[in-house]
Amino acid sequence: MMMMRRPEGAVDIHTHILPGMDDGAEDLGESVAMGRLAAEHGTAIMVATPHMDFAGAKRGACAEGARKADLVRRNTGILATALAASGLPVEVLPGMEIAIDPDLLSIIEAGEAVTIADSGKYVLVELPFGQLPGYTEKVMFDLSSAGYVPVIAHPERNAEIANDPNRMFSLVRAGAIGQLDAGSLAGELGRATRRAAEALLRHGLAHVIASDGHSPSFRPCRLDRAFAAAARLVGDSSALCAVRDLPRAIVRGEAVRLEDPEKYAPRRWFLFGRMAI
Ligand SMILES: [Fe+2]
Repeated sequence: MMMMRRPEGAVDIHTHILPGMDDGAEDLGESVAMGRLAAEHGTAIMVATPHMDFAGAKRGACAEGARKADLVRRNTGILATALAASGLPVEVLPGMEIAIDPDLLSIIEAGEAVTIADSGKYVLVELPFGQLPGYTEKVMFDLSSAGYVPVIAHPERNAEIANDPNRMFSLVRAGAIGQLDAGSLAGELGRATRRAAEALLRHGLAHVIASDGHSPSFRPCRLDRAFAAAARLVGDSSALCAVRDLPRAIVRGEAVRLEDPEKYAPRRWFLFGRMAI
């Protein structure tokens, strides 16, 4: 079997490693197994980002939302203790993968959501898999204007963006960062998803790679295969930035500067050679 190069010190900002909170790890033993796999493949820091959908929940001084946020923080602490007791050199920090909502800013400001690593700055936002809601750009703009940075989880898996990667252009211009799933780049989610992920990465329409790991076998928490795929596409230095430097700045709540995105233009192929566009 071919050995993959480990991206040492990688930071994984999107995992479902907390036990019993969503469709991720089932129990603490599985969570520790996910942490072990991550550490074995070079990951040093993981953010636990259970799914949260605030649609229909009471807002404002909402006890339920705040309770969920506290539960995420408490369970992350329990997992951190278990990982340390197992001698694993991997740190785990709290977060949430939040379904996009027209009131996302007020949900965050009410303390009902957990930002990435509790940074108070970066927010992991999940889009639906089909249509992009009409309010998507406004939500990105509202968050940016208030000093937050929305990180869009796996845009390559949204049908509209996969069909037209330029749908990400205005979202990035509105202040969003794109996070690709490692499995998408490694080709584990099909050819169309891999192509969309590659197009987004090459054009500065996505910037970070994370595992979106759900178990030791379903989208495992490893970034080495995607790192290798990204390095072939954009070079070692940019690939390392996507799995280590940029996500490290995100968990520290530091400001990041991104290259301006480019408009995506599909490559055209002709019978006698390729015409690059
Ligand atoms: Fe996820």
